[in-house]
Amino acid sequence: MTGDEKYDIGHYGKDSITDEDVGRLLTITEQAEQFEIMMMYFDCAMSQVRTKLEILNKEMALKNRRNPFEYIKSRLKSPSSIYGKLKVKGVPFTVENIENTINDVAGIRVICSFIDDIYSIRDSFDVQDDVEILQEKDYIASPKENGYRSLHLILRVPIFLSSEKKYMNVEVQFRTIAMDFWASVEHKMKYKREINNAEIIVEELRYSADLINQLDRRMLQIRERIERSEVPSEEEKHAK
Ligand code: GTP
Ligand code: MG
Repeated sequence: MTGDEKYDIGHYGKDSITDEDVGRLLTITEQAEQFEIMMMYFDCAMSQVRTKLEILNKEMALKNRRNPFEYIKSRLKSPSSIYGKLKVKGVPFTVENIENTINDVAGIRVICSFIDDIYSIRDSFDVQDDVEILQEKDYIASPKENGYRSLHLILRVPIFLSSEKKYMNVEVQFRTIAMDFWASVEHKMKYKREINNAEIIVEELRYSADLINQLDRRMLQIRERIERSEVPSEEEKHAK
């Protein structure tokens, strides 16, 4: 073996690569320990961002008398997905390349009740001095061609180890419950190789995404009306 080939499992002649295959490759290339350490760092960074989100949730719940989040999900990317992503990018499978080229090894999905909550949280991250927003993709303001809507941030956060401070990237996706419902149905399309009437389904999905967007905006208007009606008017105050 020469050069980058040693980082390739392609020569095993397999269609799909399992986590065990990747584990063997890491051992052969003497990167197993380094990989384990890197994954631990990503895990710590993910916990750090989750904690920040939970603090914002508590603070906003107290201030606004409601939780901005429905729930948060987080995951570390599996070794086989990491391998697949590097292969698609045409980058050799090394721990260094994983850290430098894959932004979503640590991924968090925040499901919000309302669209404005998404931007409130985003703005809070903007003013925190130990979080840097490295990249922002606003697929709510500019939806994808297929109708996909979400706000994606790549955050860079420090993790404090026994003798050093290390910066790691974490991907955070924000969407409403309705957008999440749409994304999970649409995701299923990707795993079906052959679909009858694919064009019609794509069109239906795009149409549904627009309906969902209208629904999200109406729900926000309803909430705002409720909030306004909770504040006593000047007349009501004087009548007391
Ligand atoms: P990668 O970093 O290689 O994933 O590409 P990218 O940076 O161009 O991706 P992007 O930030 O646009 O989206 C990354 C993630 O968002 C994906 O892994 C999905 O979880 C989600 N996503 C993006 N587009 C879609 C979509 O059309 N449908 C669904 N269901 N999810 C999507
Ligand atoms: Mg990405």
